[in-house]
Amino acid sequence: MKILGIETSCDETAASVVVNGSDIISNIVASQIDIHSRYGGIVPEIASRQHLLTIVPVVNRAMSEARVSWQDIDGIAVTFGPGLAGSLLVGVNMAKAIALAKQLPIIGVNHLEAHIYANWLASSSNGDGKVRKGVPPSTSPNLLSDKKGEGPLVTIPYLSMDVRFPCLCLIVSGGHSDLVLMRGHGQFEKLGRTRDDAAGEAFDKAARILNLGYPGGPAIERAAISGTSCLSLPRAWLKDSHDFSFSGLKTALWHLVQKERILTNASLVADAAASFQSAVVDVLVAKTIEAAKEFEVRQILLSGGVAANKSLTERLSNSSPLPVLVPPPHLCTDNAAMVAACGYYHFRNGQVDGYDLDVVPSLSLG
Ligand code: KG4
Ligand code: ZN
Repeated sequence: MKILGIETSCDETAASVVVNGSDIISNIVASQIDIHSRYGGIVPEIASRQHLLTIVPVVNRAMSEARVSWQDIDGIAVTFGPGLAGSLLVGVNMAKAIALAKQLPIIGVNHLEAHIYANWLASSSNGDGKVRKGVPPSTSPNLLSDKKGEGPLVTIPYLSMDVRFPCLCLIVSGGHSDLVLMRGHGQFEKLGRTRDDAAGEAFDKAARILNLGYPGGPAIERAAISGTSCLSLPRAWLKDSHDFSFSGLKTALWHLVQKERILTNASLVADAAASFQSAVVDVLVAKTIEAAKEFEVRQILLSGGVAANKSLTERLSNSSPLPVLVPPPHLCTDNAAMVAACGYYHFRNGQVDGYDLDVVPSLSLG
């Protein structure tokens, strides 16, 4: 079964064709990062206008690279929330137009659920203990690869990486830091969320404080490589809760930068980036493992843009007593393959939407 996925919730216009919820046969992502980086963050009005310009060529390219015709497609999965209203509308209306013209079913997909389903993409083992996903051992090559997910095969410490329920999902993106218990397909229970800044938002704000540019996550990660986490920054543990909080850490970084005149010295900036990254990772890792033990899950599934952070994936997989699944970096950040994968499981369950599907910018999960 082939599903065309469409994603326009934020600043990436994306389309992808995925077979049976796992095999990516095309995956096109048109990023607007260069445009928004001039403003130091996403400008919603510009984002929606840019989606309008790129959505048709992106969908056409996804179809031609997949070498399929509309008769081969079984359904159109599209993100309808959460996200920027004007951006979501472009994708949802594109999906409706195609569905109407080609008489195909529409499947509305929750963007957060789609992030989780990136863990189902190209998950099949080739029988020799090697799979095209998972956390590479620290010595293995980076999994960054072409958009189809056909990166180098790496040996990972688990014999089978098929998802097993119940699992604990940590979704860390620009707008969310959610801990969600998943008992089966479509069965979610939210255990924790951020009380203020999301993890990705905290990275973006910290990068702005350190003059490292946008998007902040990759910028902090790059800067941190040449630094050490020697500077003292707080961690909000929020005892007896599975919630997160990162705004105090961001404020503490700002004060530290002023007090120690960090911006006058590149090696201090690197130390500040490393110290900040380490503080975020400490909290995410410890609280995720704590919840995994409490709810006796079988696996931990990491997803969302911040899951592209190598320090986070390595620390979580090294500290966790349970298998940790992480999509390769290009499937952690926004893409439409994850939307198609998620849509496939809804479609298989008979969950389709009508032409009245509307955007829900504040949609949550569980
Ligand atoms: O999932 P995503 O692509 O979009 C949303 O749904 O929000 O996540 C984007 C977020 C941004 O805040 C970005 O700074 C962060 O993910 N991010 C990272 C890394 N790559 C992207 N954060 C830390 N380390 C990274 N390597
Ligand atoms: Zn996202």
